[in-house]
Amino acid sequence: MADKGGLEGIVVARSRLCSIDGQKGVLIYGGYDVGDLAEHSSYEETCFLILRGRLPRRDELDAFTSDLAAASPLSGETAAVIDMLASHAAPMEMLRTAVSADSFDDPDKDSNAEEANFRKATRLIAKMPTMVARYDRRRRELDPVEPDPGLGHAANFLYMLSGERPDQQAARTFDVALILHADHEMNASTFTARVIASTLSDMHSAITGAIGALKGPLHGGANEQVMHLLMDIGSDENIEQEIRGRLDRKERIMGFGHRVYKTYDPRAVILKRYSRTLAERSDEPHWFAMSEHIEKAVMEEKGLYPNVDFYSASTYHYLGIETGLFTPIFAMSRVVGWAAHVIEQHGDNRLIRPSSEYVGPALRPYQPIEQRTAPEAA
Ligand code: CMC
Repeated sequence: MADKGGLEGIVVARSRLCSIDGQKGVLIYGGYDVGDLAEHSSYEETCFLILRGRLPRRDELDAFTSDLAAASPLSGETAAVIDMLASHAAPMEMLRTAVSADSFDDPDKDSNAEEANFRKATRLIAKMPTMVARYDRRRRELDPVEPDPGLGHAANFLYMLSGERPDQQAARTFDVALILHADHEMNASTFTARVIASTLSDMHSAITGAIGALKGPLHGGANEQVMHLLMDIGSDENIEQEIRGRLDRKERIMGFGHRVYKTYDPRAVILKRYSRTLAERSDEPHWFAMSEHIEKAVMEEKGLYPNVDFYSASTYHYLGIETGLFTPIFAMSRVVGWAAHVIEQHGDNRLIRPSSEYVGPALRPYQPIEQRTAPEAA
């Protein structure tokens, strides 16, 4: 296969965490099919699996869940940083900064020992939803809602966002969305986290860098772009013409295509089901209907399948979540995958330091500035 760049097909790590069969459309965390986890598990249990490499016993899950609940309130300093940012930072700028700031007072910040990293991972998983919800309420000029230790991780986020306890269907839908985004092999943000960890830098630095990588529209930022696409197109009758026009102009249709999946992304299959169910009880069923229609048009025009970001957009919209929070939500879930990869990297580390092929000018003599009359070739 000719090298098309982008490190396609290059193995950069040996990992026990997650595997993808891109031909069959299968995604596995620690040996478990993501479809089974979405059916039977919870985000908390999936986190334990990804971090510890096995499903927890009941007592272990209870202990992990109460560790998460205990860690979910923010320190006064991190809360102050978020309050300061709420009026002028975009959501991913806020999250990148708040996660970085949260290391200042972390009691384990100077240790990369495995148990210290587990504790930091638990704290970050617990705190990121509180950060996002606090920021969103502050920017809407509402008082923050403190986490309710009696609610599960997914339900708690929806509660902190809206101030109302979500119904069972909304909480379960969001729980499944978190499960589906929790890890994804050597994607760009995970690779970023592993590169940072490989310098023996710390967990918070690695997660901060990963958030920066996730933000881009070719990666996690695509879910917000999907909602903008739906809103820009506006109604069903414009779909074929709009999609054809965008593809003719060589624009990318966000939420479609994938480096690894050459078939339906298994996460999109599940999210499509949840989006359909939410549409049926919504007074805006057209977002799902339009999504299905766009899927058909993109398949016919370009042969591309939807990825995880496509149906997550309408799903989150139906849950009443504002579009600008979609990518922070992706980060809130993926933090467990990033953290587990950091722990794995630290467990068997060698500095990640690849090479580049030099294609610049051949060796040339240095010219003093006074002798530089014409601009030199770059
Ligand atoms: N819309 C239109 N054309 C596309 C798309 C798309 N969504 N995706 C790929 N292509 C075309 C691309 O233009 C190129 O065509 P040509 O050969 O005619 O120039 C060809 O497919 C190969 O593109 P590539 O960029 O080399 O492929 P890749 O393996 O690097 O693409 C991708 C992966 C995700 C960057 C790409 O599919 C894309 O840009 N998708 C839209 C953004 C998106 O949805 N990202 C989320 C990815 S999944 C969740 C996540 O990881 O965050």
